[in-house]
Amino acid sequence: MNNCGKARAHTNIALIKYWGKADEDLILPMNNSLSVTLDRFYTDTKVTFNPEYTKDTLILNGEEVSDDEANKIYRFMDLVRERSQTSMYAYIESINYVPTAAGLASSASAYAALSAACNEALQLNMSKKDLSRLARRGSGSASRSIFGGFAEWEKGHDDETSYAHAIDANDWENELSMVFVVINDKSKKVSSRSGMSHTRQTSRFYQYWLDHVDEDIQSVKEAINNKDFKHLGEVIEENGLRMHATNLGAQPPFTYLVPDSYLVMEIVHQCREAGYPCYFTMDAGPNVKILTEKKNQQYILNALLQHFKEEQVIASDITHTGIEILE
Ligand code: PMV
Repeated sequence: MNNCGKARAHTNIALIKYWGKADEDLILPMNNSLSVTLDRFYTDTKVTFNPEYTKDTLILNGEEVSDDEANKIYRFMDLVRERSQTSMYAYIESINYVPTAAGLASSASAYAALSAACNEALQLNMSKKDLSRLARRGSGSASRSIFGGFAEWEKGHDDETSYAHAIDANDWENELSMVFVVINDKSKKVSSRSGMSHTRQTSRFYQYWLDHVDEDIQSVKEAINNKDFKHLGEVIEENGLRMHATNLGAQPPFTYLVPDSYLVMEIVHQCREAGYPCYFTMDAGPNVKILTEKKNQQYILNALLQHFKEEQVIASDITHTGIEILE
């Protein structure tokens, strides 16, 4: 038996955010979320299981990662072993194709690629639904990176029922793109894990977030059905800001946003006023992602390049491709 598998997964950006866990261990979210999967950023991962190995090993971008740093991945591998009833350890070689210093989270593409590579290596014949459930255990957002285009992660109520699926947009995603503005942040980094946990437990605004997120998901689905970019944009911008508002309502409050994040938001407003619709969203960091229509992308890039360096501004298409098995 060949115990080797290789897979590629693309990263995704949430348009309606996942923010807060109902179960920290199983990574069950408090709310549904909805994302687009990006063409430009992905992870390739090869996994080789061997009965002779005495531990897991992770090689990331050509360099061996210390056991301490790789600990989270190795705990994930324990889950894979449990599910597949094997005791073999693995040699994992992973390459992140994310532009240097882009500062973008790669955990979504990383865990989706690792899940698909393990599935292949151990010939587990998992469905996409089960791959999504498995990837979720590494990082919640990874559940969505199994799919291309638009994907929704259904929160579910237990391990079985919490997984993502693709949303058919009638190829509308071909007309859209996302522009990343990479902002150099000198403030202390709060991981998504600890940020969302602190906010869920202490924020005065958290219940308000929960009360409105389902409406946002519904509105986005309507906008996708009608190919209504303005409607889509208005909802996702509001949802993203509301997520960041929950952090301001936490005790103590915190924020991921820095002055340059607000500068990008202002530029987005100016582009809109000039007749070029585009809408922003931010995650657990200061970088801003701008959703636009391809036909207007160049105008928005030019507007950004008046304030930011070329290497800080990166455009990506939305990919149709979910996880791929590589030779
Ligand atoms: O899956 P994690 O732990 O990387 O959390 C992702 C959290 C956000 O990026 C802020 C929102 C999301 O839905 O991706």
